[in-house]
Amino acid sequence: MKFIVLSDLHMTRPGELLAGLDPALRLELAIDRINAAHGDADLVVLAGDLTDRARTAAYEALRGALGRLVPPWTATLGNHDNREVYGRIFGAGSLDGNGFAQSAHHVGGEVVLVLDSLEKGPGSGGWGLASGRLCGLRLDWLRGELGLAAGRPVHVVLHHPALQVSALPDAYLLEDPREFLEILDGYPDIRGVTAGHIHMATTTLRRGIPYHTIAGGHATTREEFGPHGARVRLEGPGQMAVVISDAEHTVVHFDNYVDHHPVIAE
Ligand SMILES: [Fe+2]
Ligand SMILES: [Fe+2]
Repeated sequence: MKFIVLSDLHMTRPGELLAGLDPALRLELAIDRINAAHGDADLVVLAGDLTDRARTAAYEALRGALGRLVPPWTATLGNHDNREVYGRIFGAGSLDGNGFAQSAHHVGGEVVLVLDSLEKGPGSGGWGLASGRLCGLRLDWLRGELGLAAGRPVHVVLHHPALQVSALPDAYLLEDPREFLEILDGYPDIRGVTAGHIHMATTTLRRGIPYHTIAGGHATTREEFGPHGARVRLEGPGQMAVVISDAEHTVVHFDNYVDHHPVIAE
């Protein structure tokens, strides 16, 4: 099976630039790439920060653009989103019985679980806290879905990373992830946990489970690694994860759909 993770689209109102970049244009490039190269994907997951400031017109622009995406798609939310506005634009089916943008997808003998880590509160432009949270309801849902997965390979997608990826303390991580990590530790075949939010491509191995973050669709963050521990923002790449998995193994491609490196001859 094959699925795609897009993240951090930060959609704005039509024509509105964000840090000099056009989120709608970048989304069109992502959709072009998926339809041309990954039209065979079983699923596309939008991993939150769908919009930058949770404007109604931004969600409407996203909904319109997704109309030409070939594979089926699902979405969860990030700290820049607003659950109420999202639910109003995308309809009742976009939120589960507890009001969260969580969903389970059984494809090709494997399971993709999409978790909603948005926690309402004062934040960085949208509706939520910069840090994320998985409350008891959301963790109970995860336990239940892992029970239904019954040992099949499971892939997890959510907006907030659970693990530290920087030498510096990071206020952007999932708040108190211990219970989440323990639940995953207790399942026999977690193939990967993919997050966005930090706009950076990393992979971490913890107790046999790989945890990935992707640069996502908007500006990319680069760790400078020097004595002063700075981070800088770059124009790109605009990057998605392409997860290809079978009974034996799982591979993740960090596929850059906004990338200014020219093709060179052999
Ligand atoms: Fe973001
Ligand atoms: Fe975020």
